[in-house]
Amino acid sequence: MIEYAKVKEASDFIASKIGEAPEYGIILGSGFAKAVSNLEVETVIEYADVPNMRCSTNSMHPGKFVIGKFNGKQVICMQGRIHMYEGYESYEVAFPVFVMKLLGVKTLIITNATGAINASYNVTDFVLIKDHINFSGDNPLRLGIDPRLANACCDMTYAYSPALREKAKAVAAKHGVELAEGVYIGVFGPSFETPAEIRAFRIWGADLVGMSTVPEVIAASACGIELLAISLVTNMAAGMTVDKLGLDDITAAMDGVPERLGKLLDGIIE
Ligand code: HPA
Repeated sequence: MIEYAKVKEASDFIASKIGEAPEYGIILGSGFAKAVSNLEVETVIEYADVPNMRCSTNSMHPGKFVIGKFNGKQVICMQGRIHMYEGYESYEVAFPVFVMKLLGVKTLIITNATGAINASYNVTDFVLIKDHINFSGDNPLRLGIDPRLANACCDMTYAYSPALREKAKAVAAKHGVELAEGVYIGVFGPSFETPAEIRAFRIWGADLVGMSTVPEVIAASACGIELLAISLVTNMAAGMTVDKLGLDDITAAMDGVPERLGKLLDGIIE
């Protein structure tokens, strides 16, 4: 159960440390932390200090909220996220989205690292997520949620805001950044997929595979936050090349990414 009192305690704690309420939220995936170098940082809050908030166990995820002005807009940025594969429940992964809702966030931008199932994508491509398949085995709303926070039986048709996707495509075109659109399948992890799983996911219509994002997207839909999700292709999915997959592939693909992503964010948050 996602309890109102616990979410409120966390949001009151953050609100007590910041000035203006944030209008935008950003969740930065593995290696993306530097994408917001233009953020005029006002406050940094460690996840460990926020009541009821779970912490990342992953060294690639710093684990802090950074709050400040980005292009004149007040933004709360999660540098690092937590994952179900770290031993957390889906609702614990989604918890910060409900906190952002109470803080006043209207628009959430999610970034992540993914494996490409669609053979037309290349490593280091950015791909907008237009829809997802939840293959993570859980749903953050499954154990119930206080109706003051969200509508559990929420519609997911427009979870990935068509208007924000159009805006992101226009910004990308202006900056000469290639931006495809695809369907993301969210898996539990932490092992990578088997080649047979990837072939099956392709038949289902998935273009990208990753171990995050789905809980946060469901949470954003349930509480009425407009959402955009941008994936970075860090590797071709299992079985698509002869190579074995490892974390090194993911870190190697991050080179130059913060700068390219920063340009996109700049145009989207204005
Ligand atoms: N599979 C699952 N998650 C991922 C991958 C992948 O190939 N690449 C980056 N995150």
